Amino acid sequence: MTNLSINRQENVNCDDQFLSDILFGLGQTQKSLPCKYFYDERGSVLFDEICKTEDYYHTRTELSILDEALPEVARLVGPDADILEFGSGAGIKIQKLIEALQAPRSYCPIDISEEILVSSSAKLKAMYPSLEVFPIVADYLSPIELPAAFTANSTGRKLVFFPGSTISNFDQPDAIQFLRHIRSLLSPGDALLIGVDLIKPETRLISAYDDREGITAAFNLNLLERIRNTYATDLNPGGFKHEVRYNSEKHRIEMHLSSRCDQVVNIEGERFEFVTGETIHTENSYKYSVEGFSLIASNLGFAPNRVFTDSDNLFSVHYLSAH
Ligand code: TRP
Repeated sequence: MTNLSINRQENVNCDDQFLSDILFGLGQTQKSLPCKYFYDERGSVLFDEICKTEDYYHTRTELSILDEALPEVARLVGPDADILEFGSGAGIKIQKLIEALQAPRSYCPIDISEEILVSSSAKLKAMYPSLEVFPIVADYLSPIELPAAFTANSTGRKLVFFPGSTISNFDQPDAIQFLRHIRSLLSPGDALLIGVDLIKPETRLISAYDDREGITAAFNLNLLERIRNTYATDLNPGGFKHEVRYNSEKHRIEMHLSSRCDQVVNIEGERFEFVTGETIHTENSYKYSVEGFSLIASNLGFAPNRVFTDSDNLFSVHYLSAH
């Protein structure tokens, strides 16, 4: 991997931050853990498997929407684009984007998992030798400093790519703050291409987050495995089970880990009590209407000039240009 240098931002969490987040989260009345810790090596592999399940409609639906939308997106973006992707993961969707755009100039993937970032960046560099690749290891929940080389001498538009409805995993104030941060990285004419999951009947949503193969359950429980493998603890992941709820008032899926019995868990000398059925809240996934999301975007200085959906209205992809 000759000309790929990895930029590591200071905001990437170290083990101590993980521990203090665990102790804080489990000390709350409604126990919780931050969802960003799902993505260790095993978690990232499990996540890719979730995306291939029959029940999890998002990935295949978004890919088919992109197939339809990309020729038009490419016309709107024009040549020599500089692409920035938050939470780039395994880098499958980006290949479609790179191939559709007219000679994109550079690609800056940002991900919290260094292993995946390195391997996917190397693969993309090999596939598209003329593309400049600037990988950044960072927790993108905090502000990111872009490498100067990324847009130095740029002649095209900047395009932020944020697929997978990752915006769903932010609570509302954080979603707005994050979109505002993205907007601040853009100049008028630059754009954001973002995937957003849509509101739909509850049963369909529940089964998407509780797939029949049990992969989402394993993904959720892997967070407890990660804690057990990292710290001195008597935590037994088998003492918990995956639980999914739909909160219809807030239009959000909630993932929890529910205690199978009354138990005490010690982590690095701190003691946490659970009664049977008590849960650790691990993630939210907010669902939007096309109109609702467009309104949020337009309030933040984006022109919602193009929205693409599938014929069943499961998922949406918004092309939002900054003005
Ligand atoms: N952002 C996507 C969603 O909320 C993908 C995702 C994040 C996900 N965490 C997950 C999917 C946990 C299933 C389970 O749908």
